[in-house]
Amino acid sequence: MPRLPDDPQLFFDVHVFVCCNRRPDGHKRGSCAARASEQLRDYMKVRAKELAIRRIRINAAGCLDRCELGPCAVIYPDGVWYRLESTQDVDAVLERHVLAGERVTDLMLPPE
Ligand code: FES
Repeated sequence: MPRLPDDPQLFFDVHVFVCCNRRPDGHKRGSCAARASEQLRDYMKVRAKELAIRRIRINAAGCLDRCELGPCAVIYPDGVWYRLESTQDVDAVLERHVLAGERVTDLMLPPE
């Protein structure tokens, strides 16, 4: 849905939601927290500060319903989804997507 001319200015330029949902071991869908998403979220927060990225918010989210593809994160207002498996993936998303305005296509989730 496009923003309208009279909508207020974005409070954050970039809002990242990192799924930190945890299911019991052995659950058929698995969960992002079981794949270390909480540590990656924490790393992303630290790294965003180190890179002096302003007006960014990195939040822990509940299940984003793409569990099998996780650990999942989605970046708004772009609406781009990523699978973040490592600190290197987090670095790539912050440096290339957030700072350079590119897309890290090899980490993007499929549209469906
Ligand atoms: S557990 Fe992360 S998307 Fe569902």
